[in-house]
Amino acid sequence: MTVGESADGPVPASWAPVRPPWRDFGTLRRLFGTDVLAGMTYIHRRYGPIVRTRLPLHLYFVADPGCIEEILVKKAESFHKDRTSRLLARVLGRGLLVNEGESWRRQRRLLQPAFHQRQLESYAARMVEAIARASDGWRAGEVRNVHEDMMGVTMTIVAEALFGTDLSANAREMGRTISDLMEQFSRMLGLSARFQPPPWVPTPANRRLRASRRKVDAVILGVIEARRRSGQEATDLLSLLVSARDEEGRGMSDAQVRDEAMTLFLAGHETTALALTYALYLLALDPERQARLTAEIAGVLGGRLPTLADLERLPYTEAVIFESMRIYPPAWGIGRQAMTDVEIGGWRYPRGAEFVISPWVVHRDPRVFEDPELFRPERWANDLAHRLPRFAYFPFGGGPRVCIGNRFAMMEAKLVLATAIQRFCFEPIPETSVSLLPSATLRPRAGVRLRLAER
Ligand code: HEM
Repeated sequence: MTVGESADGPVPASWAPVRPPWRDFGTLRRLFGTDVLAGMTYIHRRYGPIVRTRLPLHLYFVADPGCIEEILVKKAESFHKDRTSRLLARVLGRGLLVNEGESWRRQRRLLQPAFHQRQLESYAARMVEAIARASDGWRAGEVRNVHEDMMGVTMTIVAEALFGTDLSANAREMGRTISDLMEQFSRMLGLSARFQPPPWVPTPANRRLRASRRKVDAVILGVIEARRRSGQEATDLLSLLVSARDEEGRGMSDAQVRDEAMTLFLAGHETTALALTYALYLLALDPERQARLTAEIAGVLGGRLPTLADLERLPYTEAVIFESMRIYPPAWGIGRQAMTDVEIGGWRYPRGAEFVISPWVVHRDPRVFEDPELFRPERWANDLAHRLPRFAYFPFGGGPRVCIGNRFAMMEAKLVLATAIQRFCFEPIPETSVSLLPSATLRPRAGVRLRLAER
C-alpha cells in the first residue's frame, strides 16, 4: 500500500490518503474513462476511504463518513464548492447552489422562509394535481419513458411553485431551454471542468450558452418586473423572493432574484424526477414489493388522491424513496475545494486541494447496508434513517449547505409516487434497463421504458 506524503509526521494509516501505484494507472484510466461510478467504487474498495489521484495533483476521493462530516459540517468554513460547481455558475449565475461567503449566507437566510412547513403545505395540492393531470393521459398497455414523464411532472410542479400561474403555460418551453442549458453544461463537463476556456472566449459552446441564458433571462425578468409593478401579494416562491428583506430591510436585486429562480427551477426538478424514475424502475423489477406498496397506499387512501396529511401513514412509500435514493443517489458526487490548509482525519491538506465525496460509494458500503446492491425498502423500518451513523446515508448532502429543498422533495416524491402507483402497475419490458450517465446528476442515459398495466 502506498501512503501519501505528510508534511507533519505520522498519522494513523487508515486516515492517510492512499495513492494508487503506477502499475494500476492503466486500469484506473480505463475504468474512469468508461464508467466513473465503477472507477470510484474500485478505488475505495481497493485502496481505502481516502484516495489521492496522480493527476491532477491534489484531488482526493473521500468515502469515510467521519471525514465527510469534517468536510461538510465541522470544517465547512474552510471549504468552497469545487471547480465543477463554479462552472455551473455560468448557467445559474450566483444562485444559492454556487454562491459563497457572506453573499451565500445572506441569500440562504432570505430563501429559508420559502421552505418552512407552512409554505410547503401550500404546494401539496398542486403537486398531486400535476401528477393526476399527467397520468390522466396515460393508458394501460402502453410503454412509456417514465424518466421523461417524471421530468415533465416535476418541472410543472416547480414551475407552479415558483411562478404560480404566470409561467406554467410557458413552463415547458422554459423547461426545454433550461434543459438545453444543462445539456450544454454536461457537455462542458465531458470536456473536463479543468480545461474550459473562460466564459468571455467566443467559443461556439460559450456563444450557445449565452444565447440560451438570454432567452431564459428575458422570460424570468419579465415575470419579476410584472410582480414588482403589480405589488400584489402572491404566495408563490417568486413573490417570496421579490418581497424578502434582510435584517436591515434590504431586498434582492432583479438579477439576484433571477439567479435564485433559475437555481430553484433547475435544482428543484431534475433531482426529484430522478428519485421517482429510479423508484418506478426498481418497483417494476420487483412485483412483490410493488404489491406491498400498492397495498399500503390502497389501505390508507381507498382510491382517493393523497393529501399531505396522509403521508405520515405511508411509511413504506417513504422507505421506497429512501431506498431508491440509496441505490441511485441523484446527487452522486459532492465536490469541495479547500480555501485554507486544512486537517481532515488527522492529515493536513494544502489550500486548493479538491475533494470528491461520493454518496454512490458510501450508500453501497456492505458494512452498513446488508446486501447493498439489493432493493430492500423494508430495511428502513424501525427508523433506520435515525439509527445510521452520520453520513452513512446523505442523499441531500449535509451541514450548512444541505439541500434547502429536501423536505419539499420528499413531500413531492411521496405524493407523486403514491398517485402514480395507485393508478397503474409498472412492468418491465424486455428492453428495460438503465445505463447510468453520471453528469451533474445521475441520469439514465436513454431514459427508462416501462409498460403500464391496469391496477
Ligand atoms: C430528490 C431530490 C433532491 C436531491 C437528491 C437533492 C440533493 C441536493 C444536494 C446533495 C445538495 C448539496 C450539494 C452540495 O453540498 O454541494 C443540494 C443543494 C441544493 N438543493 Fe437540492 N436536492 C433535491 C431536491 C431539491 C429541490 C426540490 C430544491 C428546490 C425546490 C432543491 C434546491 C437546492 C438548492 C437551492 C441547493 C443549494 C443549497 C445551498 O448551497 O445553500 N433541491 N441538493
